[in-house]
Amino acid sequence: MGRGKKEKGRKDREERKVIRCLCAILYLFCVLNLTGISLDFTVREKMHYNTAEKVKETTAGQVSGEVPEYGEGAKKIALTFDDGPNIACTGRLLDGLKERNVRATFFVIGKNVKANPKLTKRISEEGHMIGNHTYSHIDMSKVSEKKAGKELKKTSRAVHAITGEYPQYMRPPYGVCSRKLEESLDMILVRWTIDPLDWKTENTDEIVKKVVTKTEENDIILLHDCYNSSVDAALKIIDILKKEGYEFVTVDELFLN
Ligand code: NI
Repeated sequence: MGRGKKEKGRKDREERKVIRCLCAILYLFCVLNLTGISLDFTVREKMHYNTAEKVKETTAGQVSGEVPEYGEGAKKIALTFDDGPNIACTGRLLDGLKERNVRATFFVIGKNVKANPKLTKRISEEGHMIGNHTYSHIDMSKVSEKKAGKELKKTSRAVHAITGEYPQYMRPPYGVCSRKLEESLDMILVRWTIDPLDWKTENTDEIVKKVVTKTEENDIILLHDCYNSSVDAALKIIDILKKEGYEFVTVDELFLN
């Protein structure tokens, strides 16, 4: 019997050990849950899942020919049109942009704004950005600062009289503007990154080829809305680059990007 009692005592101690162990595991589990470690793990797992899903979706999109448009993942570029508004070309360009739900930027010449108020209003009303391209297309490096300033102000006032807004961005004709003058202006100077020399060739296919083969994300494309060849090229460029996943935005949207 003495041996039996000893045996029973050992069994009891073992049982208590197992119970203490189970309690410890339960306690640890509760503590982990309370401190959020378990929750954190779930979130991290979810993030991994989302990333993987995104990669899969993107790949699937590429394979099936679908492209991201107007949203996350789209590569932004800006189409800009100088020297208008032009009675023979700008209206047709605006029709094409509207059809394609694309917004662009127009660096207008003040005297053309005065001559074409309806087109100027339409540019603004249809969501495009208007920038200042001086009043009479002067080479700002060849006139006094005072004269250059007057050309810009006169243009801004003409735009404001029609649209109710002063342009905040300017592009100097020929891209020429001294650093000193640039710093004295209360406007943001915008040049370009792609120039297909549309005014020189007036050849639609050549302009399209030059642009679509060079374009990369965040490019600013220079065109002129006073040539029909440039209008045709712009619309073809949009159709091609949209399929490549590009989103067309205004210059201010590109800068805010
Ligand atoms: Ni110009």
